[in-house]
Amino acid sequence: MVEGRVVQIGLLGFGTIGSSVYRLIQKERDQILEGTGVDLRVKKVLEIAPSRIPTDAPTGLFTTDFAEIVDDPSIDVVVEVIGGTDAAFDFIDVALRSGKNVVTANKQLLASRGEALFTLAKDERRHLRFEAAVAGAIPIIKVMRESMIAAGLHTVYGIVNGTTNYILTRMHQEEGDYAEILLEAQELGYAEADPTADVGGADAAAKMAILASIAFHSRVTLSNVVYAGIESITLDVVRHAKELGFVVKLVGAARLIEGKVSVRVFPALLPTNHPLASISGSNNAVFLEGTDIGEIMLMGPGAGGVPTATAVVSDIVSVANTKDVGFLQSCSCYRRLGFYAAEEVESAFFIKVSVADEAGVLAQIASIFGAQGVSIANMIQEGRGDEAELVLTTHPTKERQFFAAIEQTKGLACCRTEPMTLRVL
Ligand SMILES: NC(=O)c1ccc[n+]([C@@H]2O[C@H](COP(=O)([O-])OP(=O)(O)OC[C@H]3O[C@@H](n4cnc5c(N)ncnc54)[C@H](OP(=O)(O)O)[C@@H]3O)[C@@H](O)[C@H]2O)c1
Repeated sequence: MVEGRVVQIGLLGFGTIGSSVYRLIQKERDQILEGTGVDLRVKKVLEIAPSRIPTDAPTGLFTTDFAEIVDDPSIDVVVEVIGGTDAAFDFIDVALRSGKNVVTANKQLLASRGEALFTLAKDERRHLRFEAAVAGAIPIIKVMRESMIAAGLHTVYGIVNGTTNYILTRMHQEEGDYAEILLEAQELGYAEADPTADVGGADAAAKMAILASIAFHSRVTLSNVVYAGIESITLDVVRHAKELGFVVKLVGAARLIEGKVSVRVFPALLPTNHPLASISGSNNAVFLEGTDIGEIMLMGPGAGGVPTATAVVSDIVSVANTKDVGFLQSCSCYRRLGFYAAEEVESAFFIKVSVADEAGVLAQIASIFGAQGVSIANMIQEGRGDEAELVLTTHPTKERQFFAAIEQTKGLACCRTEPMTLRVL
């Protein structure tokens, strides 16, 4: 047996991720020791829910008192996997001030209150690592921070929420409508009992804020991200998209436009030959474009206990093997860029609207679009008695102009429903 440098861990939370981190360390401890010379040991676990504590847990391993972790000088790394933005912030703040390195999986915390914690980590010369906070097992943070430091990243597209990708994949396979599949996903444990953060886009927005901050070296918080979810996507829309050769996905788009940052999350149509279109089920993927790399995509399991735990453990090993705070600081936001106005972004659109099936309707709509400079790329019209369903796609145009055209279209007597619009990537 190799003798290694012992690294003691204080684990905060023993839920899905915490218990998986504990078990993964037990399982991989010898391999990690052989491979890196670091002997990982979980010394204490903070957990407030008695039902989470295994009956065969070693005596003294569990505590409900954070002081037993933070005041223990033998503990080197504190791993925060309780979630939430209040207690987690306080625990990380105190841990850093007490000289501990910290590993967290908490995207909501970093996307909303990350700056204060990263500044503190820098001042205290401690690590604050967060590989597991975005895209689960996919090593995207390390790749972007380290491997792509000279890549000139200007665009990051992500499918970073597994729940919505699972629902949309099943809708694409025509296995049911949104509400039915969401219910099934909840029963199977793929969706939370309260799915709001996932289906409403907030979870993906937090992850895109983190990815954009790393890609563009400028702080992006959750409040800077314009986001929408998939609640309004119907099977009918997915079918029309399919007919036109598209797949509907919840896409995160972080771009540098004219030196300014634009970060948005929205349901979008992707051509079936786009690399992100093939990402199915609960998988995640991040598609990167840089002036010096062209295009690179990473894909894999975006959540789940064991996959996410692999990212947490890799952070612990990396911290343990990095001298001082290493060649990179925890946070690489060394500049402050402005934000590009959302309405000035150029996007192509898909539009679905019910209209009266009579002569001149298309001409009226085309004339409004033409006046706003919106050019139509494709059109399908299906007659249904005295009504017709019109499905259009447009060429890219400024969103301000596009939505001005849509507002005017709403006033037309021939339009029987409000136009349903989705962006096309
Ligand atoms: N689940 C995933 O697939 C996944 C993937 C990537 C990242 N993450 C992130 O990982 C973190 C943990 O997620 P999870 O799924 O493991 O959550 P979880 O299953 O709810 O586990 C959290 C655990 O922490 C405990 N806890 C909450 N507040 C506490 C406090 N103040 N002191 C001590 N213990 C406390 C909870 O106890 P109670 O049960 O009593 O509340 C629970 O046992 C979150 O930030 C999440 O966003 C999760």
